[in-house]
Amino acid sequence: MCGIIAYTGKRQCKELLYQGLRKLEYRGYDSAGLSVLSDGNIELVRAVGNLDSLEKALVGDGCTGARLGLGHTRWATHGRPSVENAHPHLDCKGDISIVLNGIIENYQTLREELASEGHSFLSETDAEVVAHLVEKYYDGDLVKALRLSIGEISGHFAICAIHRAHPDLIVGARKECPLLIGVGEGENFIASAIPAFLSETRDVMVIEDNELVVVTPEGVQILDLDLQPQDREVTRVSWDADAAEKGGYETFMRKEIYEQPDSLADTLAGRLPDEGGVVLEELAISDEELAKIDKVYIVACGTSYHAGLVGRYVLENWARVAVELDVASEFRYRDPVLSPTTLVVGISQSGETADTLAAMRQARSQGAKVLAITNIMGSQATRDADGILYTRAGLEIGVAATKTHVAQIAAMHLLALYLAQVRGTMDPGEIAEVSTELKTVPDLMRDYLKNEASAHEIAKRYYDQPFFLYLGRGVGLPVCLEGALKLKEISYIPTEAYAAGEMKHGPIALLDDGSPVVVVANDGHVYDKVVSNIEEVRARGALAITVATEGNERIKTLSSDIMYIPRTSEMLSPLLAVVPLQLLAYYIARLKGCNVDQPRNLAKTVTVE
Ligand code: AGP
Repeated sequence: MCGIIAYTGKRQCKELLYQGLRKLEYRGYDSAGLSVLSDGNIELVRAVGNLDSLEKALVGDGCTGARLGLGHTRWATHGRPSVENAHPHLDCKGDISIVLNGIIENYQTLREELASEGHSFLSETDAEVVAHLVEKYYDGDLVKALRLSIGEISGHFAICAIHRAHPDLIVGARKECPLLIGVGEGENFIASAIPAFLSETRDVMVIEDNELVVVTPEGVQILDLDLQPQDREVTRVSWDADAAEKGGYETFMRKEIYEQPDSLADTLAGRLPDEGGVVLEELAISDEELAKIDKVYIVACGTSYHAGLVGRYVLENWARVAVELDVASEFRYRDPVLSPTTLVVGISQSGETADTLAAMRQARSQGAKVLAITNIMGSQATRDADGILYTRAGLEIGVAATKTHVAQIAAMHLLALYLAQVRGTMDPGEIAEVSTELKTVPDLMRDYLKNEASAHEIAKRYYDQPFFLYLGRGVGLPVCLEGALKLKEISYIPTEAYAAGEMKHGPIALLDDGSPVVVVANDGHVYDKVVSNIEEVRARGALAITVATEGNERIKTLSSDIMYIPRTSEMLSPLLAVVPLQLLAYYIARLKGCNVDQPRNLAKTVTVE
C-alpha cells in the first residue's frame, strides 16, 4: 500500500517525482503529495484524491528548481483521506520531511510521549510520528536520527527522510515493506516499486529488511542496523518502460486482459520441453524432498486464492496429494497442522501481501517447506520461501488482477504436473499429453479474444442489475468466485458466488424474476449436475448467463445468454473460462462509468494486515 518515490541529483525533480507517482498510483490513490528542497526550505504540496488533484495543485512555479525531493501516493490506513493526512509529513520546524509506507503499530504511545515533550501534530496519521522522532534525535546526523527513530517503532514500514540542512541527501529504511534504489548517473532514486523510475534507469539495488540506505547523487550506501556498510549488487532489469503505459488501450485492465495469451505462453515457456517432462528451475526443493510430501497447503489472498482453488483440483487429480487451502489472513491466526512433509505454497502476484508473507513465515517456522508463486522477481515472498515458481505475466498495473491470475493458474498446472512426475502418479505419456494440450491454450485464448463479442452485448443488457449470483461446480467454482470478485471490485455491484449444489441451501432465496445468474457450465464430469442447477434457476424466473464449451448447442435452450469458450480438457478449462467473466465485469463497470484501473478503496498491493 502507498507508493514512495524520492530523487536526488542534478535535474529539477518536480516532474520526475510526479511522473514516478503516476507509475505508483496503483498502490494507493486516496491522496498524494510532494516535498522538495527549494532555496534551502522544504516546500510541501499535497492534494486529496488521485494524482489529477496533485497535478492541479502543482501548476505554477511551486517546487521548480528543486533537485531533492520526496513523493507519496497514499492508501489510507490511519486517518481519513485529507490534505493534513496526506504525505509527506513535516516535523515541528519544517526542517525535516518524511514519507512512509506501512503501519506504525505503537504510534499512539509514541505520539503521546512526543506530545508531552512539546511536539505538535497536524494529522491523524501514524506516519507523522516518524517526522517528530527524527526531529527529536537529529543532532546534525540524519542517518543516526533515522536509525534511532526506527528503533522506537514497532510495525512494518518503508521510510524516506530528507532534512533542509542536507541539500542532496535522502535516508531510507525498510522493514517488511518494499523499497528499491534506482541507480542513475549523477542521480539516484528510491521507490517502492521499479516502475516509478523505470523510464530513467533500469539499474536497481534491493534494500533488504532491517536495512538503511544513504543516497546522494554520487552514491548509494546500504547499512545494517549497526550502521555497518553492506555489499549489494546492481541488477539490470529487462522490463520495458512501455509496459507501464497503456499501449493504445483505453485502460490498463483491458490491455492486461488482452495480454493474457502472452502471460500464459511466457509462464509455460521452457518448462514443458518437447522431449518430455516438466522443468522448474527455480524450485530449489529437491525431488527427494518433494517425493516425501504428504500434504500441500495453499495460502493466498483474493484472486491469488482463487488460483489456489484451481490448484487444489489439479493437484488432487494429477499428483494425488492431499491439499488444504486457506486465505492467508485466517491461516496465520489458526494453529495449522504442518510438518516437514507439508509443502506450503504461498501465491502472491506482488510477493508483498502482508498476510500471505506472514503465513509463509509461520509455515517455515513450523518446519514446512515453503514455495512462493509470484510474479515479481526479488519480491519479499521469494526471500521468505525455500523455492520459487515465477509466473511471467509482466508488469500488471490494473488493480484488478487479470493476466497474473491466468499465469498463476498455469503455475498451478505446472506444479501439479511436476509433483505428478516426482510422485509417479502420472506416466510420462500422460504428462506429455497434458503438456501438449497446455501449450495450445495461449493460441486458443488469442483467437478467442480476437473474436469475442458476446460479453459486451451481454453487459449492455444487464449492467443496471442490482445483484449477480455466480454458480459453478468442480473447477468451474473457483472461476465463478473470481468472476464475482472481478465484478464487485470494479463495478461495486454486490455479487455472490456459490457452489451450484449449495444454491438450494440458501442463495436460491435471492432469486426472482429476471435475476441474472452467471453459470460456468463447461463440458466435464459435473456438466449434467450444473444443467440441473440451471433448470432450478430458470424455474424461479431467473436468467442464466452461461459460460459453455464451444459446440454445445443443447445449453442454448437453457440460457438467456451464452459466452462460448474453446474446448479443452476439464482441468485446463479455468484458463479460458475466466476470460469471459473478466470481460463481462470489465464492460459492466465501464458502462456504469467506473474507474476500472483504480476501484475505490482498493490498492494493488496490500502490504498491511
Ligand atoms: C485482485 O483483483 C485483487 N484486487 C486482490 O484480491 C489481490 O488478488 C490480492 O490482494 C492478493 O494480491 P497478491 O496476489 O499480490 O498477493
